[in-house]
Amino acid sequence: MRILLLGSGGREHALAWKIAQNPRVEKLYIAPGNAGTGSVGVNVPIRATDFEAIKTFVLEHEVNMVVVGPEDPLVNGIYDFFLGDRFLQDIPVIGPSKEGALLEGSKEFAKEFMKRHEIPTARYMSVNKDNLEEGYAFLEGLEAPYVLKADGLCAGKGVLILHSLEEAKSQLSEMLCGKFGDASQTVVIEEFLCGIECSVFVMTDGSHFKVLPVAKDYKRIGEGDTGLNTGGMGSVTPVPFADEAFMEKVENCIICPTIDGMREEGIVYKGFIFLGLINVAGDPMVIEYNVRMGDPETESVMLRIKSDLVDLLEGVAKEELDSYVLEVDPRAAACVMLVSGGYPEEYEKGFPITGFNLAETTGSILFHAGTTVKEGCIVTAGGRVLAVCSYGDTREEALRKSYEAADRIDFEKKYYRRDIGFDL
Ligand code: AMP
Ligand code: GLY
Repeated sequence: MRILLLGSGGREHALAWKIAQNPRVEKLYIAPGNAGTGSVGVNVPIRATDFEAIKTFVLEHEVNMVVVGPEDPLVNGIYDFFLGDRFLQDIPVIGPSKEGALLEGSKEFAKEFMKRHEIPTARYMSVNKDNLEEGYAFLEGLEAPYVLKADGLCAGKGVLILHSLEEAKSQLSEMLCGKFGDASQTVVIEEFLCGIECSVFVMTDGSHFKVLPVAKDYKRIGEGDTGLNTGGMGSVTPVPFADEAFMEKVENCIICPTIDGMREEGIVYKGFIFLGLINVAGDPMVIEYNVRMGDPETESVMLRIKSDLVDLLEGVAKEELDSYVLEVDPRAAACVMLVSGGYPEEYEKGFPITGFNLAETTGSILFHAGTTVKEGCIVTAGGRVLAVCSYGDTREEALRKSYEAADRIDFEKKYYRRDIGFDL
C-alpha cells in the first residue's frame, strides 16, 4: 500500500509514525513534511494545497490513499477534487467533502448546523455589515466577557474575547471592516461559556464512528494559561473529567446528532471530527468544530492508540468502520512542545538541535514540528520546534518523563511551558 500524508507539523509526524507501523505500507510519502517525517517516510516538496501537483504525484507513484493533516486542503475541497477527477476518483481521501469542511471553514455554518440539530452550544448571532445595529443590540443583551469570532479560517487567530461592551462593539465594527480580511466579513457573536475545555476526536465513515482518546491542549504561551495564543504548547490524555457519564452525553447529544445531521443533509463526511468542547457544570457544549486532528493533541493521542491506524483508515474509506476495533492503551500520555524563544511573536530560526539520543533514553518519543535538515544537521525551522511525548502510568509520570527529555534537548533560545496539565 502506498499512502500520501499531507502536512508538515508535529501532528503529521505523529500520524506518519503511526501509519508507518503497518507492515502493509510499502511507501509513505509526506507532502511537504519536515525533518522528522523524513525519518519514517519520504518527504515530497509539494504544498498541501497544490492539488494539481498532488494529482501528478499520486498518479505517478500509484498512491492508494491520501490522508489529510491540516484543514486548508479540506476547506479548499481536496475531497471533491479527487471525486471529480476520473483518474483520481477511486483513490480515497481521508477527510470530509468541501461542504462537510464548512464545519471548520465557516463558524456561521457550524452554528446554524448545531441549531438545526439541537447540538448544545453557546447562544449566538451572526452579523455582517447589513445588520450591525442588531449585532450591537445582541451584545447589549449579553454579559461580559464578549466572544467575537471571524466566520472564516484565520489560522487560529480569529476569536476575540473582550471584557467591556465598548471594546466589543468597536472590535465588531473593525472585524466587519476587514480586520481579518475576508474571513471577518461575517462575525459570530457568542455568549461566553464558563468551564474547562477538552478535545474529543472522532473517526467516522459517515455512519459509524470511533471515539479516540480524549485530550486537553494548552494554547497560551505563558504558564498558568497567560499571554498570547500559540499553535499549542502541550497536551495530555486522558482527561479526568471526561469520564463515562460525560462521554455518554458527548456521544448522545453531540457526536450522534453531528454524524446523523451530516448524513441527513446529504453532506459526505469520512474522516476526523475534532470537537472542541467545554464542560459547563457537567454538561458538554461545543465551542468549535474542526475537520481534522488537533495539534498538539495528535502527538499524545497517537501514543494511546493500540490498534493499527491504517486498518481504521481503510474502515473509514470503505464505510466499514464498524468492523474494526479501536483498542486504547490504558496508560497516560503527555506532550511538551519546545518552541523558539520569542514565539508566537518574532523569533530566529536555523539553530542546530542537539540531544536527540539523550532525550530518547527516557523512553520519550520526539515528534518534529518546525525542523529541517541543513548541511546534514537538524536545525530549527519554525516557532514550534519539537513535541516531546511520553507514556506514564499516570499523567504526572508521563509529564515528568517529557520534562526530563525536554531538558536534554538543546537549541539556542529554547522555551517550553513547565506547567502542562496544571489545571487537571
Ligand atoms: P475557537 O477558535 O472557536 O476554538 O476559539 C478559541 C478559544 O476561545 C477557545 O479555545 C476557547 O478557549 C475560547 N472560546 C471560544 N468560544 C467561547 C465561548 N463561547 N465561551 C468561552 N470561551 C470561548
Ligand atoms: N489544538 C487545537 C487545534 O489543533 O486547533
